[in-house]
Amino acid sequence: MRRKLAAGNWKMNGTGDNLAQIAALTAAHPAPGVDILICPPATLLSRVSDAAGNAIATGGQDCHAAGSGAHTGDISAAMLKDAGATHVILGHSERREDHGENDQDVRDKANAAIDAGLTAVICVGESLAEREAANTLAIIGGQLAGSIPDGVTAQNMVIAYEPIWAIGTGKIPTLDQIGEVHDFIRTALEKRFGPGVGRSTRILYGGSVKPSNAEGIFAVSNVDGALVGGASLKAEDFGPIITALENA
Ligand code: PGA
Repeated sequence: MRRKLAAGNWKMNGTGDNLAQIAALTAAHPAPGVDILICPPATLLSRVSDAAGNAIATGGQDCHAAGSGAHTGDISAAMLKDAGATHVILGHSERREDHGENDQDVRDKANAAIDAGLTAVICVGESLAEREAANTLAIIGGQLAGSIPDGVTAQNMVIAYEPIWAIGTGKIPTLDQIGEVHDFIRTALEKRFGPGVGRSTRILYGGSVKPSNAEGIFAVSNVDGALVGGASLKAEDFGPIITALENA
């Protein structure tokens, strides 16, 4: 059985004021029936980790592929871990777009994260043009092959399927389209890593997940949780998403 995971990606949002959301979340979900992960901006990581206690795991939103060195502005996987993180999001489409990260970069970062003892949350997803050209599965297949390192386990890797055109737009694919991609990812993982890793790895859906659409998304086969952006910023939105996942 795969334990479900509700992951929040705060992106470049949040200051100390937002710690109140962590307090509200832990008060509302003292013994959650699913794993909860919050990935705040790096400046908040240690404070969120302290505030979150045992009920909520924390993660970074990116890391450098090197362990240390002359890389102004960057953060290593070991630094994230030192700040309390157990996870790191890698290859988010905003990183791929804003910072030109390609599959090889994501793979190198994932290796660094895993070496440091973190779980890599590796993101894949197609653009609207790619979906309209019926290239979605080919694009996802290529990103999986290129971005996931060899030798991963179901403990140190999570996959997030995030159609780029659904992120922050309020649009989501049909439930059939989500199911098609998640089934495809499951099969690709089983083929490459064998049935053990393939069947136990969690596959999250991300892109405009809200309290109003969570129940439907979580009923789709091979959806093991969500990576939530905007709706993870407030406990009053993220809380009902967690509850929907607990009830799925
Ligand atoms: P969104 O972002 O929920 O705001 O669409 C999802 C993500 O980018 O992880």
